[in-house]
Amino acid sequence: MLQDNFGRQFHYLRLSVTEMCNFRCNYCLPNGNECDTSKGNMTLNEIHTLVQAFARLGTSKIRITGGEPSLRRDLIDIISMCKNTPGIEKVAMTTNAFRLKKDVQRYADAGLDALNVSADSLDPRMFAAITGKDKLEDILAGVEHAIAVGIKHIKFNSVILKQFNLGGLTQFLNYLKTHAVTWRFIELMQTGDNASFFAANHVRGEDVKKALLAQGWQRMVREKHAGPAQEFTHSDYLGKLGLIMPYSKDFCTTCNRLRVSSSGKLHLCLFSQHGLSIRDTLSSGDIEGTCEALRAHLSLKTASHELQKGFTGATKQLAMLGG
Ligand code: GTP
Ligand code: 5AD
Ligand code: SF4
Repeated sequence: MLQDNFGRQFHYLRLSVTEMCNFRCNYCLPNGNECDTSKGNMTLNEIHTLVQAFARLGTSKIRITGGEPSLRRDLIDIISMCKNTPGIEKVAMTTNAFRLKKDVQRYADAGLDALNVSADSLDPRMFAAITGKDKLEDILAGVEHAIAVGIKHIKFNSVILKQFNLGGLTQFLNYLKTHAVTWRFIELMQTGDNASFFAANHVRGEDVKKALLAQGWQRMVREKHAGPAQEFTHSDYLGKLGLIMPYSKDFCTTCNRLRVSSSGKLHLCLFSQHGLSIRDTLSSGDIEGTCEALRAHLSLKTASHELQKGFTGATKQLAMLGG
């Protein structure tokens, strides 16, 4: 098992398969990708070596992220390769869902267990204003299709923005009356290049939490391998709510995930300064060498992201690391 100097264990890999995204979310990529693609994406073989190494070190869950993962032509092969790697029990993906309706049956056939879908508004005009794409209807149809083909674990993600979707919280809650999904509200994070947007749009997660508790939502007990969200239920609603509050005290004490960028760099935190390249051992198919590099690098993981101190890290756009 991978364990850091603070006793945290890592059973969950967030695997970015491309930095590219076709959406232009105003909090993420308002002017498009700024990535350095000179190193190229990891190939399927390199990803296979990586996944086998993580599995050997006790990783049981992989979340495929981007950019937008469905822009990769070999996505189905990546899903089935992850799912067929001994030790990997759960394969999940985070997507903007623009191809979901068309492809979700193939994702399910390849073994995808869970889906997180970004949807920052349930109002089509607001959705287009935030993401730059008039695609809400297609995305919701894609999610209905995902439910129909039997993907059991489906979560929505909305980054809460003061000047945009904060007034639409009731619309999200209404959706949960009839859908057995989880809707997560994510507190906007400051990155290397969104300072003025952050100042105008940041809403404290704790304030959203207070409003939900006042409406009768009740905090659920945290499960052993749960992610960063605090989860809530309500007897009048079929679905659940999640709150991701990176600025809250102790957010990082339960960190259980590591990230690898699409160019094969290990990132110990979403906000870590620099990725640590493990591409050489991946290219040579060296599983044990990759394990050694991962163990050695993990000793550098710090206790917290230090966002509270105004630290934004080197990750300019979270799309570079799949959030
Ligand atoms: P599950 O728990 O597997 O459902 O995944 P998740 O919530 O970690 O996955 P998802 O890709 O849906 O992440 C949602 C958002 O939460 C990300 O895009 C980030 O904005 C935020 N997030 C997830 N993990 C971390 C983390 O380790 N640190 C910080 N600061 N934010 C995170
Ligand atoms: N703050 C919070 N979440 C962000 N994401 C991207 N940029 C930010 C940010 N600045 C997250 C969103 C999206 C995922 C790909 O990354 O949750 O769904
Ligand atoms: Fe693309 Fe997700 Fe970033 Fe939006 S938040 S631009 S969908 S990577």
